[in-house]
Amino acid sequence: MRVLVTGGAGYIGSHTAKALHHSGFEPVILDDFRSGHRWAVKWGDLVEGDLDHSDFLRKVFSTNSVQAVIHFAASIEVNESVRDPRKYFWNNCVSTLKLLDSMREAGVKHIVFSSSAAVYGDPETAPIPEDHPTRPVSPYGESKLFVEKVLRWYGMAYAMGWMALRYFNACGADPEGELGECHEPESHLIPLVIAAARGKRPTIQVYGTDYPTPDGTAVRDYIHVTDLAEAHVRALQHMLDGGESYALNLGTGKGHTVREVIAAVARASGSQPPSEDAPRRAGDPPVLVADPSLAHSVLAWKPKHSSLNEIVQTAWKWHSSR
Ligand SMILES: NC(=O)c1ccc[n+]([C@@H]2O[C@H](COP(=O)([O-])OP(=O)(O)OC[C@H]3O[C@@H](n4cnc5c(N)ncnc54)[C@H](O)[C@@H]3O)[C@@H](O)[C@H]2O)c1
Repeated sequence: MRVLVTGGAGYIGSHTAKALHHSGFEPVILDDFRSGHRWAVKWGDLVEGDLDHSDFLRKVFSTNSVQAVIHFAASIEVNESVRDPRKYFWNNCVSTLKLLDSMREAGVKHIVFSSSAAVYGDPETAPIPEDHPTRPVSPYGESKLFVEKVLRWYGMAYAMGWMALRYFNACGADPEGELGECHEPESHLIPLVIAAARGKRPTIQVYGTDYPTPDGTAVRDYIHVTDLAEAHVRALQHMLDGGESYALNLGTGKGHTVREVIAAVARASGSQPPSEDAPRRAGDPPVLVADPSLAHSVLAWKPKHSSLNEIVQTAWKWHSSR
């Protein structure tokens, strides 16, 4: 079965294309390489273009006989979204509407969507269950919530099956060393700490050291990209088997502080990454941890690669091989 993977040249999309291929699906990668990489397209055909172009999308569906879509393509920088909301609502919302139009025209009835923990905004509880109020605090989070709402209504009106997967902090690299994380600019903690350990950046800023957490630094739920990839394959299979549509948290249910991440990089690299304490950043909650129990029961999915040591070791191996 051919599956269209939008954003399949990006970080999570490329790992998922590999997982799809190894599970017997045939990924078709759609990407315009605005932030993806040609070296990451190794499994399946490539169709190059921008989701914003409806004619291009029509052609993709009419010539590729895909039966489902996994939709990763998006703009992903939370801070940038506050400065430039238009870019986020256009690329993450309008382009998704165009994608859904083309799916309807082509009779494609299944979509897995990359959502985010950003839909929760500043959470009231930890861990966070899926029925926690959704109050995004950035245009990025708002754009993800908008698409989730569209999917609910389209699902009911047009008999479309959908799964919205709310990732917590995606991280790590393919354990076989074929893929890894490479965002430009990089804003994710683990690659930044690794760059500091390798002397590629002078220091790592620790934003907030007075949070009510075990060492005063912010706690996040780190989920290995290979575990995310497996969850996508399971979500797709769930829909193809006629399962109900869901929004599901993808995390481990366990949090780590920024200082624990820095210590894990120091262990993996054998050198202490230079770090500097800095004030809290606006909009950064103290603790963001998933309650992943719904994904466990709906998808029979449990993370296998998401110990902090394995995450950091695979990421370190990837970055130091480049
Ligand atoms: N990385 C994380 O921690 C994280 C957390 C939560 C949610 N997400 C979501 O997961 C998805 C993938 O994230 P990622 O980290 O792999 O990002 P990424 O930037 O590595 O991948 C996104 C890919 O989409 C492509 N793309 C973007 N807009 C496009 C368009 N209009 N047409 C064609 N291609 C387009 C880019 O070229 C890139 O290859 C995104 O939707 C993101 O919002 C990521």
